[in-house]
Amino acid sequence: MGLKKLTSAALLATLAAPVIAQQSIYGQCGGIGWTGPTSCVSGTTCQYGNDYYSQCLPGGAATTTTKTTTKATTTSTKTTTTSSKTTTTSTKTTTAAAGGTTCTASNISQVSSVVASCTNIVLSNIAVPGGQQLNLNSLKASTTVTFSGTTTFGYYSWTSPLILIGGTDFHITAASGAIIDGNGPAWWDGQGDGGQPKPGHFIQVTSAGTKSLIEKLTIKNYPNHCFTLGGTGLTLQNLNIDNSAGNAANSLSGGKAAAHNSDGFNCKAKNVLFQDITVNNQDDCIAVSSGAGNVTAQRMTCIGSHGLSIGSVGSSTTIDNVKFLDSTVKGGENGCRIKTVSGATGSTVSNVLFQNIALSGITDDGIIIDQAYDGTEGQPTNGVKITNVQFVNVTGTVASGAKDYYISCGSGSCSGITFSGVKVTGGKGDSCNYGSLC
Ligand SMILES: *[C@@H]1O[C@H](CO)[C@@H](O)[C@H](O)[C@H]1NC(C)=O
Ligand SMILES: *[C@@H]1O[C@H](CO)[C@@H](O)[C@H](O)[C@H]1NC(C)=O
Ligand SMILES: *[C@@H]1O[C@H](CO)[C@@H](O)[C@H](O)[C@H]1NC(C)=O
Repeated sequence: MGLKKLTSAALLATLAAPVIAQQSIYGQCGGIGWTGPTSCVSGTTCQYGNDYYSQCLPGGAATTTTKTTTKATTTSTKTTTTSSKTTTTSTKTTTAAAGGTTCTASNISQVSSVVASCTNIVLSNIAVPGGQQLNLNSLKASTTVTFSGTTTFGYYSWTSPLILIGGTDFHITAASGAIIDGNGPAWWDGQGDGGQPKPGHFIQVTSAGTKSLIEKLTIKNYPNHCFTLGGTGLTLQNLNIDNSAGNAANSLSGGKAAAHNSDGFNCKAKNVLFQDITVNNQDDCIAVSSGAGNVTAQRMTCIGSHGLSIGSVGSSTTIDNVKFLDSTVKGGENGCRIKTVSGATGSTVSNVLFQNIALSGITDDGIIIDQAYDGTEGQPTNGVKITNVQFVNVTGTVASGAKDYYISCGSGSCSGITFSGVKVTGGKGDSCNYGSLC
C-alpha cells in the first residue's frame, strides 16, 4: 500500500502545475528570441502575430492553438488503485474574433457600420471617393482590420488625411497581395507641402492604447507625407512603403521629382517600435519629432530618403530615448540626421543612439547635426539642447560632392556627442564644431 500511496501522490504532484510566470494582457508571450513567459493570464490567449511576436490577447480571437491535457481522476482504496490518464493534444480551432464574426466591407458606405459593430474587419477592395476618408478612428478595443485587395483613393483638392486610425490595442494588417494605393500622381506637383493643396499625411494614427500593431502593409504613391503617428504603444513592422514612382518629374514639377516632402513616418508618439520596414521615398525615412519618446527603429531599409532623422525640432518640446539600429540608408541626401530649427528655444533632444548603420551613395551629409535648420546654414542657434548622442558603428560611403560629417552645434548647446567605430568616407569638406569628431 505504501508504494501505491506514493504512486498516487506522485501523480497528484504532476497534476499540480508548476508555478510559472504568466504574461499579462497584451504582453509578449512568444516569438524568435523571446525568453519570457509563454503562457497568458486567465481570460487571454497567446496569439501568433509573426515569427518574432506573439501576444496575450483577450478571449480566443483569430486562430489559436489550444493544447488540452486532461488527466482523469485517480482513486485509491484499500483494495484497488485505478489509475488512468487521457491526453488530448493540439486542438487547432479557428474562431471568430472576440465580439463577433468577420465583418467585410467592400464599399466605403459600409465602413462606419462595421467599425461601430465589429472587432474583426476585412476591408476588401475599398474605393474611397475623392473628398471622403477611410475612417477607422473609433475602432472598438482590440479590433483587427485586414486590408484585402487594392484600396484606392479618388482625387480631391484638400489637405485632410485619407486614412484615420485610432483605438486601443488594434491590429492593422493585410491579406497577401493587398496594396494601398494613395493615388499620389493626382496631387504631385514637385512642391510637397507647398504648391496645390494635398493631403498632408496619408495615414494618421491618433491613439493606440498600450499595444497596437500595424504590419504587413504595402503602401504606394501617397500624396505628401505618409504616416503621422501620435499616441503611445505602437509597433509597426513588415511594411513596404514605395513612393519611388514620384522620383520622376511630371508636367507640374518643372523637371524635379514629382513627389516632395514625402516622409515615410512622422513620429510624435511614445513607446514605438519600428522594424523590418522598407521606405523608398524623397524625404525623411523616419522623422522622430515633437514629444516623441522611447522610439526604436531597427532593420530599416531607406532608399532615396533624407535619412534616419530626428526633427525638425522646434520650440518647447522634448524628444527622449531614440534608437536607430541595424539599418541601411541607400542613396538619399542624408544618412543619420538631427535637425533643430534655427532660433527655436526651450527644447531638448536627449539619449539618442545610431548603431550599426550602413550608408551608401549619400549625396549631402553622411552624419549631420544641424542647429540652423530652416535658417542660415553655418549660423547655428543654441536654444535646443542636444545631450548624449552616440554614433556607434556607422559606416559606409557618400558621393564625392557630399560631406562625410557635418556637425553644426549652437554655442554650448551640444553635450555628450560621441563616435565609436564610425567611418564614413568618399566625401570632402567635413565640418564639425563639436570636439574633434571629424
Ligand atoms: C457603394 O455604395 C453606394 C451607396 O450604397 C453606391 O451608390 C455605390 O455604387 C457603391 N459603390 C460600389 C463601388 O459598389
Ligand atoms: C520611456 O519609458 C520609461 C520606462 O518605461 C518611462 O519611465 C518614460 O516615461 C518613457 N518616456 C516617455 C517619453 O514616454
Ligand atoms: C556594424 O554594422 C554592420 C551593418 O552596418 C554590421 O553588419 C556589423 O556586424 C556591425 N559590426 C559590429 C561589430 O557590430
